[in-house]
Amino acid sequence: MAHILAIGIATLDIINQVSHYPAEDSEVRAEHQQFRRGGNATNTLVVLSQLGHQCQWAGVLVDEPDLPLILADLQQHQIDYSACRRLAKGKMPTSYVTQSISTGSRSIVHYRDCPEFSFDDFGRIDLQAIDWLHFEGRNVDDTLRMMQLARTKRPELMLSVEIEKPREQIEQLIPMADVVMLSKVYAQSRGFDSATALLNSLSGPQLFSCTWGEQGAWLKQGTQLWHSPATPPAQLVDTLGAGDTFNAGLIDALSRQLPAAQALQIACELAGRKCGQQGFTGLV
Ligand code: ADP
Ligand code: FRU
Repeated sequence: MAHILAIGIATLDIINQVSHYPAEDSEVRAEHQQFRRGGNATNTLVVLSQLGHQCQWAGVLVDEPDLPLILADLQQHQIDYSACRRLAKGKMPTSYVTQSISTGSRSIVHYRDCPEFSFDDFGRIDLQAIDWLHFEGRNVDDTLRMMQLARTKRPELMLSVEIEKPREQIEQLIPMADVVMLSKVYAQSRGFDSATALLNSLSGPQLFSCTWGEQGAWLKQGTQLWHSPATPPAQLVDTLGAGDTFNAGLIDALSRQLPAAQALQIACELAGRKCGQQGFTGLV
């Protein structure tokens, strides 16, 4: 099993489940409410840890009243967070999520007021024992330098990057990675109406993935293209973090040297299973 380090965020997710998504300027009562740890990088690690990998997270931790809930979840899933930057003041990034019970959709209002994990913070991490380094595509200038440093220190290290949201200059990260994980949101922001249209616009030796909700996901490498349909759960319960789970499935399968088509199928199955349950605990 691999030693996997992910750079990105942990959040507090406040999830209100409503029977139907509310109309603007209306009042609805939530049927249930949950407070959970979230954040793409840590969601992916929590799944990877359940798949048996040794997982480490580096990001920013703020000492504030919501921190213990986040740390408890990381501890429960044996995520090593010792390389995090700790701040005495501020607020952990917080997502206010409205989850529709009728459709399983999740709409997110995200608030953040804390610094990003920086290149200097990254420079202090010992990369010697790491097999796979995964980045959330954010904080582009610093992330690019982190990827360059990792390539210099450990040329053989597998590097993956998630490009989920459009951010200025984020495409600069693509040439640095072995695996590039793209999303429907990113594709649409670039004017593409399908995963294949986005993937066909990209060239390079990297393995590219693009997820597209209930249509499943695609992989591309060179001139080869693979598709896997989504595997719908018996009941659609919670799609928050489906993409993060897909990324975990891909990293897991590729780190075990499985061929691309099989890795894609495994990742879609895992993501589909996740959509049938709340959160990530007990997924594997
Ligand atoms: P994100 O969570 O980043 O918005 P997607 O919605 O594209 O990402 O979902 C990621 C993957 O999760 C999809 O490629 C698919 O395999 C799976 N998935 C998402 N929604 C569903 C669904 N309704 N039913 C089954 N699988 C789903
Ligand atoms: C899901 C998620 C949530 C988090 C939000 C941050 O992919 O990581 O857990 O609140 O996205 O953008």
